Amino acid sequence: MADSTTSNPSIETAPSREAELGSHTETGSPAPSDRNSLTIGPDGPILLHDVHFLNQMAHFNRERVPERNVHAKGSGAFGVFETTEDVSKYTKAALFQKGARTEMLARFSTVAGEQGSPDTWRDPRGFALKFYTTEGNYDLVGNNTPVFFVRDTMKFPHFIRSQKRRGGSGLRDNHMQWDFWSLNPESAHQVTYLMGDRGIPKTFRHMNGYGSHTYMWINEAGEKFWVKYHFHSDQGVEGLTGEEATRIAGEDADHHRRDLHDAIEKGDFPSWTLSVQVMPYEDAKTYRFNPFDLTKIWSHEDYPLIKVGTMTLNRNPENFFAEIEQAAFEPSALVPGIGFSPDKMLLGRAFAYADTHRYRIGPNYLQLPVNRPRVEGLNTYTQDGPMAYDHRADAPVYAPNSEGRGYADQVGEAEESWESDGVMVRQAYTLRQDDDDFGQAGTLVREVWNDQQREEFVRTVAGHLLGGVKSPVLERAFDYWKNVDAETGKKIEELVRADSGGANPGGEADDAKVVEEPIVETVTNA
Ligand code: HEM
Repeated sequence: MADSTTSNPSIETAPSREAELGSHTETGSPAPSDRNSLTIGPDGPILLHDVHFLNQMAHFNRERVPERNVHAKGSGAFGVFETTEDVSKYTKAALFQKGARTEMLARFSTVAGEQGSPDTWRDPRGFALKFYTTEGNYDLVGNNTPVFFVRDTMKFPHFIRSQKRRGGSGLRDNHMQWDFWSLNPESAHQVTYLMGDRGIPKTFRHMNGYGSHTYMWINEAGEKFWVKYHFHSDQGVEGLTGEEATRIAGEDADHHRRDLHDAIEKGDFPSWTLSVQVMPYEDAKTYRFNPFDLTKIWSHEDYPLIKVGTMTLNRNPENFFAEIEQAAFEPSALVPGIGFSPDKMLLGRAFAYADTHRYRIGPNYLQLPVNRPRVEGLNTYTQDGPMAYDHRADAPVYAPNSEGRGYADQVGEAEESWESDGVMVRQAYTLRQDDDDFGQAGTLVREVWNDQQREEFVRTVAGHLLGGVKSPVLERAFDYWKNVDAETGKKIEELVRADSGGANPGGEADDAKVVEEPIVETVTNA
């Protein structure tokens, strides 16, 4: 072909000043061109030996890691946790000793939406914290609600699938969501929360965070306690109405991410006050309901809040991918003075997270700066594998060894243990006096909410049910709410029937009109 480069002034021939500064190939030599690939003549085919071009393409193809299966859309910031009170009689954990200041990372998220999904869909919000303590990473991976939808990890994958997308159509489906909820009545407390006025926070700064599970604390003397964590927003708790949330979702899908970033950027650092409820170890054996059941809260009269300290977020990530996307939180990251409890959800989570990180980021995810424990003389026996960076030369690769490399050697009863006996069973907890699925949800509706909150709740639930929930799931959903509170359940049914033109609402839900509350993309959580 004729040489056209000289006759067309738009063609990139003359080097700019930046181009004179140059760039490098991935292996460090001067790069030939970041603008033109190597071809046979200006109109000819690209050559396979244009290594710099190939590396650019190949790397680009690998720029994403899989998104988190749940909590994919999230935002985060760094900060500090300061222990202001003396809680040493409950825990010996270094980060909770009065005066300790611990660097930390927080990541807030929605649950069911994918990475680009709007921040303001109705959904629980993740409240994941990583404390870089002197004794290792402590990860507290909670939500903005104190309870959860199910009480046995076995149900978790089923629950999440029911809240995500249909296999065939790839669509979210309210019918599927209610099918799961109504067949799993222990979800009632969390669904009540979700459909209530805390279901869509105004911003990440305006929501509380909860550890949700019961954890164990152990003091210096080896005494054990059961604890629940509460992070109360110092900005106050505020929510969005369904209408506001729907509008914002259309205008700015990153509304919450932007708010958190901008607040920190201008020096308006959000903070939360941490308090704990502490239950003496022995009380758990006789408390009127099972204190390890994640669908329940503990009465604040029985176990009042005890203040611990303050968490302040004061630094935005500089590289979102490296510091937020590749951040790996795992409830299994505990430190001395803090342990698990017999909560069947927590014990399931003790496996799930590190496992998903090995898949999502790679087996050496803990060597990345954002995840790396900041512990002097870190000595683990894991080695090699993809992207391994830490190497220990000729130090013994096995334990025990007689060459001076230390190893752990606890024997006998584990410090963070509890008694357990009996035959193996498949049953989430022995029922006690106040163990039921609907009681605490009913208390929330009747005793905590006012008339306006109840009214709004009825509209939200009815609006959601009118978004495609069909018989027999619809009738089961009416019964579900009547079990929570007879009056509220009746109102929900009446509103749904009225809005479906008095027709049998359980028949053709597709005919139903939507009530004023828009169909919210209700969700769930992990
Ligand atoms: C994220 C599993 C219950 C809070 C995740 C992820 C998985 C998972 C696989 C993705 C992690 C990643 O790719 O980095 C489970 C299982 C559960 C469970 C199997 C069943 C027991 C819960 C509960 C809570 C919770 C009860 C809150 C109390 C979170 C949060 C994240 C998350 C906040 C996002 C962490 C981040 O920001 O990176 N969960 N989850 N999950 N889960 Fe769960």
